[in-house]
Amino acid sequence: KIDKTKHKVLLMGRSGSGKTSMRTIIFADNPNVGVRKMTPTKEAEQVHLEFMGNLYLNLWDCGGQSAFMNQYFSSQNEQIFRNVAVLIYVVDAKAISTDKKSEEEDRTWFEMCIKSLKQHSPSAKTFVLLHKMDLVSNFEQPNVVRGTVDMLQELAGDHELTCFQSSIWDESLYQAWSRICTYLLPGVEVYRESLNSLIHAIGAREVVLFESRTFLTLVRESREADPAEDQQRFERVSTILKHFKITCLKMQTSFREMQICNSEFSAFLWPFTTSTVALIIHDRPDEVEMVQANLQLARGHFA
Ligand code: GTP
Repeated sequence: KIDKTKHKVLLMGRSGSGKTSMRTIIFADNPNVGVRKMTPTKEAEQVHLEFMGNLYLNLWDCGGQSAFMNQYFSSQNEQIFRNVAVLIYVVDAKAISTDKKSEEEDRTWFEMCIKSLKQHSPSAKTFVLLHKMDLVSNFEQPNVVRGTVDMLQELAGDHELTCFQSSIWDESLYQAWSRICTYLLPGVEVYRESLNSLIHAIGAREVVLFESRTFLTLVRESREADPAEDQQRFERVSTILKHFKITCLKMQTSFREMQICNSEFSAFLWPFTTSTVALIIHDRPDEVEMVQANLQLARGHFA
């Protein structure tokens, strides 16, 4: 059992870096929310989000225009930076690597963020998202990533950073946010151990648990690790499922479960606990009913 926990999460970065777009994609259920024409966020907009039914995120989407940023580091400094569990600093990877003014702004704001965190929430964890990576060519990506991470780490000094690449146009956004949310989720290790027992009990090849509202990947276990496997394929599943869910909502309908079977394997997506959905990959398509029955029996361990 996991206690109800509330965490303050700051989403910061220059105006236009993509903060509101990403949180809208991950957390909104509203099919009418588009991200192409986002209006700039005014000041710090607080959103209360429920995750896994027992983790509450108090997400502060901090508008990145200079006038607002200046306030965060002066009159509103303590209000914004006290009791922070996680800072997510979003960098427009294209802008920071090609535009001197953007780089200067990011350097200034990021350094101020770390200084304020050290003062008001010294135990806070910092994630940096090198965002809009779709705008950086494959050829330039290694240099942009290395250069930006080195620069920010130098500014952060001994404050540890965890950095991810992301883009709203592919599964990297889901990968980054899955890691951030599972960092905040107490008891993830317990889920992992239980999933490991489950996979053997039902004879599955792989089992993945997704959070049912966001479809972020919580935990995944494979019976045999395959070093050649595509590491982002479940985040790709997250992206596809979330798009499908939004499409269903647009049609004023919803979906409960899915099955894909051929002669070699079967994949089932079933509601599992009240806040999770399980994806089971199984080698024996003829054992669907048995797997489903065992999964039903296992629910109690995860509730
Ligand atoms: P402020 O509210 O002013 O602080 O800006 P913001 O950081 O919230 O940026 P916002 O989410 O409003 O995004 C600005 C623009 O960037 C929008 O037009 C988005 O569609 C676009 N955008 C967001 N993420 C990505 C991405 O990963 N790739 C690309 N190419 N564009 C993106």
